[in-house]
Amino acid sequence: MSNVFYVPGEQRAAKVNDLFAAIARRYDLLNDLQSFGLHRRWKQRVAGLAAVGPGRRALDVCCGTGDIARALARCGAEVTGLDFSPAMLEMARTRSQKSEAGGQKSAPRPPVFLQGDAQQLPFPDNSFDAVTVGYGLRNLASWEAGLREMLRVARPGGRLVVLDFGKPPNALWRAIYFTHLKISVPLIGRLFCGNADAYAYILESLKHYPAQEGVAAKMRELKLANVRVINPLGGAMAINYGEKTE
Ligand SMILES: C[S@@+](CC[C@H](N)C(=O)[O-])C[C@H]1O[C@@H](n2cnc3c(N)ncnc32)[C@H](O)[C@@H]1O
Repeated sequence: MSNVFYVPGEQRAAKVNDLFAAIARRYDLLNDLQSFGLHRRWKQRVAGLAAVGPGRRALDVCCGTGDIARALARCGAEVTGLDFSPAMLEMARTRSQKSEAGGQKSAPRPPVFLQGDAQQLPFPDNSFDAVTVGYGLRNLASWEAGLREMLRVARPGGRLVVLDFGKPPNALWRAIYFTHLKISVPLIGRLFCGNADAYAYILESLKHYPAQEGVAAKMRELKLANVRVINPLGGAMAINYGEKTE
């Protein structure tokens, strides 16, 4: 079944931008509802794998409302969050100000949020000690181009960490999980955000994305070292890790 927000080719970016403009205000709430709050744990894991601290620079691509960028900044790194959606960036900046004011464990230096395209990053080669992306590559017209850009701007020895929905290797679990994405997730989208299509998009885009195994294969092809796949929830979520060699 096609989805209004999934359009391959040249229109892809415009449709994805429309999608996030439509859901930005409710994005964090829906993430909490759909994952029972677990997305926070997975994002924290991404920040841990990025292994940055004071004096290090990190980039979070497709940063959305900025969860991963803030987690990296709490480790003491100098962090840039980049996204192409003005609506999501506005939420990121507002949430950062609130967490600064709200007494949460604050970052020595809050992230800087920038508008830009993940497929044409506005940074020189070898700029960052870690480059992360959460639920982002799957949304690009070319996820391979996005990964290559992440690699280009990472310095030699730098870490690339990719978090996204996965494709569970176990056929029964995959069928149950895909049914959840097909039925419950759009229902939650309709009830709490008034937009079932925006949430039906997750399954549609996942079908066109190679998920953990495809990303790992591409990381190896691009000659990353220590390529690893971590499969939270039996592979329903996926974290890909690799290090730039040269
Ligand atoms: C599902 S959200 C993920 C947000 C955040 N990383 C998280 O984990 O909650 C995907 C984000 O990717 C952004 N995005 C999609 N295509 C992009 C592109 N070509 N360049 C930059 N950002 C993009 C969207 O605007 C959206 O904020």
